[in-house]
Amino acid sequence: MGDVSLVFVKVAEISEVPAGKMKKITLEGKDVLIVNLNGTYYAIGNKCPHRGGDLSKGTLDGTQITCPRHKAKFDITSGKVISGPKLPIVRPTINDEPLYDVKVEGNDIFIKTS
Ligand code: FES
Repeated sequence: MGDVSLVFVKVAEISEVPAGKMKKITLEGKDVLIVNLNGTYYAIGNKCPHRGGDLSKGTLDGTQITCPRHKAKFDITSGKVISGPKLPIVRPTINDEPLYDVKVEGNDIFIKTS
């Protein structure tokens, strides 16, 4: 099994992220969103690439997270943009969120560092 702590950092315990819930953590100075989707954990960047909306305050619907600020949508299993910000005139193109590797061992959730 090896020592996962060399590249994976413990960021939370599973009791902190129940099924259907999400949690914001900080990993090496970056905000990361952990999502528990029916027992499988995913982690993507938490800061919206549009204007920095806090995705942990957004709406989770299945595999889709909606930014609380201008409603851009991201796929939490890939970090990819599903639809951009809903603004009245301009429709800016935004970047995908970074996707992080997640591992669960016992009660602990680990995320892979870069
Ligand atoms: S800050 Fe997220 S859509 Fe604008």
